[in-house]
Amino acid sequence: MPSTAMSRSSASSRASAPDVGQRPDPHPPSVTAADQPRHGHEVDHNQDPPRDGVVIAVGNQKGGVAKTTITVNLAAALAEQGRRCLVWDLDVNRGASQHVGIGDNLPLLGSFEVLVGSEPPEEVILKAGDLDGVELPQGLELIAARRNLEGIDQALLEREGRFADLPSALKRALERIRPRYDLIFLDTAPNLTSPTIAAYKAADYFLLTAMPEAFALQGLNTALGDIAAARQHGNPGLTLLGVVLSNAEPRPTRLGRELVEYLQTTFGGLPDHMKPFATAISRSTIVPTAQKLGRTILSLDPHHKVSKQFRAVADELERRLAALGALRPRMGEVGRDGAGVR
Ligand SMILES: Nc1ncnc2c1ncn2[C@@H]1O[C@H](COP(=O)(O)OP(=O)(O)O)[C@@H](O)[C@H]1O
Ligand SMILES: [Mg+2]
Repeated sequence: MPSTAMSRSSASSRASAPDVGQRPDPHPPSVTAADQPRHGHEVDHNQDPPRDGVVIAVGNQKGGVAKTTITVNLAAALAEQGRRCLVWDLDVNRGASQHVGIGDNLPLLGSFEVLVGSEPPEEVILKAGDLDGVELPQGLELIAARRNLEGIDQALLEREGRFADLPSALKRALERIRPRYDLIFLDTAPNLTSPTIAAYKAADYFLLTAMPEAFALQGLNTALGDIAAARQHGNPGLTLLGVVLSNAEPRPTRLGRELVEYLQTTFGGLPDHMKPFATAISRSTIVPTAQKLGRTILSLDPHHKVSKQFRAVADELERRLAALGALRPRMGEVGRDGAGVR
């Protein structure tokens, strides 16, 4: 897509260190697919003007550092602001699917079927109103994961042969659906499973998440190394898009202070779009509560401090992508040149 190509080259043209986007160029399925309900769109988004389709992998090689919390609620905040967003659950632990109320036992087609090539992505995308008890806000759509994602490598091998590879399968699927969305978020697993590696290889941007806790710095360091590796092995345009902190304490502990210091030292001198986000997500019980209820924080309590923080992070993300030339202003908004865009 031209706009994405533009974003990649524009992002990389600002760059100068190799690791994070600164170089100048730098389990088998329990149910068969045929038995399962389909959730293809009744509305054909293809009739809309194409959107920018910016693909953002959200990650950190550490479990429990708010990857899923940030993916789902940031996408919800962007959707609320009029952006069409997709969250693609690429983690066998299904955090993003659970966060919007998709239980373990729903026999849904999702990530596995798309990646193995038995279903086109548009046939499995879930949107508002598709499933009873599944609360997806307007503008926020999802490709769900099931435990069968665990067996994706073997399934792909059996179906496609030895030359098949998961990153290419993910890229092909993304190319089909990019024009439908302003933003596509890939929620990854806390270890380098093959869907996680595929996400690193297929994304345009990488959003890091962190929480003030033991081994936070190691987790971030490892993630930076993974971004660098992805850039060297097939995705030279992958660009860091900053770090979002969650579980921020009102009065930082030693771990919290260490983390902030590390962020300042490591990211402070990088270009603006790679810096830690100005807004951090506060520690609050609303986060686990919303996850337990299978609801987004923004729908559970739109006026909650944490909901407001997610809107602020969403604004900041839009500004960063706009500055990189990767994302056009929202529909009905006035562009930088004073002209209404879309
Ligand atoms: N701001 C926050 N306040 C309280 N708990 C949080 C906050 N952010 C994340 N958590 C909790 O931390 C845990 C890990 O978050 P999650 O998003 O599932 O991380 P990951 O996807 O990285 O494994 C969850 O139990 C979640 O509820
Ligand atoms: Mg997760």
